[in-house]
Amino acid sequence: MKESKKFIYIINYPTFEEELCMLEMRSIFNTEPKDKILISDINFNPSNSTFIKSRLEVFHEEENFQDILKKLEKNIITLDDFRLEFIKALKADVPFSERFGYLSKIGDKIMGVPDIKAPKLVLALGKHKGRWVFGLHEKNDNLWSTHEKKPCSYSNSLSVRVAKTVVNIAANGDKNLRIIDPCCGVGTTIVEGLSMGYEIWGTEISEKNTNNAKRNLGFFNLEPRVTHQDMHTIKENYDSSIVDIPYGLFSHITKEQQQDIIDTARRISKKMILITFEDLDHMVEKSGFKIIDRCAVTKGSFKRYILVCE
Ligand SMILES: C[S@@+](CC[C@H](N)C(=O)[O-])C[C@H]1O[C@@H](n2cnc3c(N)ncnc32)[C@H](O)[C@@H]1O
Repeated sequence: MKESKKFIYIINYPTFEEELCMLEMRSIFNTEPKDKILISDINFNPSNSTFIKSRLEVFHEEENFQDILKKLEKNIITLDDFRLEFIKALKADVPFSERFGYLSKIGDKIMGVPDIKAPKLVLALGKHKGRWVFGLHEKNDNLWSTHEKKPCSYSNSLSVRVAKTVVNIAANGDKNLRIIDPCCGVGTTIVEGLSMGYEIWGTEISEKNTNNAKRNLGFFNLEPRVTHQDMHTIKENYDSSIVDIPYGLFSHITKEQQQDIIDTARRISKKMILITFEDLDHMVEKSGFKIIDRCAVTKGSFKRYILVCE
């Protein structure tokens, strides 16, 4: 039987996004972080979440440090251009002055030449809940933050952070699912979804927005998977839809049109992530969807609701 792997994720979030982070973690890992640490056997790329700061793939876990050394003697690691570090975020009871000593004992067991300045891989030691852990430490590369500077964006576009998170929630982290953003605006979720490797498409009723979405996708060398189309004419079926519903302030939309959008999302997808500024629970229920999870993101006087519906 194949031994299951263990990953330790180090999580952080601004207070106003705590609920959003917890919803993303429940969607990907079926559990929530405790004290900003999440342990799972699910392997998720840390750069695909704005909330994961780093991931330790645990190679060895022992109560005594000496047993970590014994494991390293038994399973020799041969590696060049690596760096060794101590994971502070696990909040170990190991005084700073002693950490270097532990690391140098580990370093003695690894066959290869380290490269501290430009390592290809980072190996790390830490202590969590009284147990020593050693493994491969990968940090979030934060490349997604460069998507904040798009050629085209509107004041009602989703932020990169929210867009990335709702795609993960829509797909539960599964790259094989088919996702649609039927009201995709300038393609914020499509940029995030495609750059993380998800199967995602967009439709948009406004020709100008469609062209701007294609421009944004082209700017990041991504496929132009957006069509100028009224979502009500969509024929395909999808595993999930992401609906950032048009609302009064920016679009002239009636309650009936909002209900129609939710009803069509129900027709074309098994699951819907609804992003809204107002309470639309009654519309979701009328469509036949059930709200299975939710969160609110409050920033200043703005409150956005994110509903997971199946
Ligand atoms: C709140 S905006 C979406 C913004 C988008 N999430 C972004 O980040 O750019 C809603 C969008 O729905 C589009 N829309 C409204 N009715 C539609 C329909 N029937 N089919 C497709 N798109 C529609 C509007 O043109 C608008 O761009």
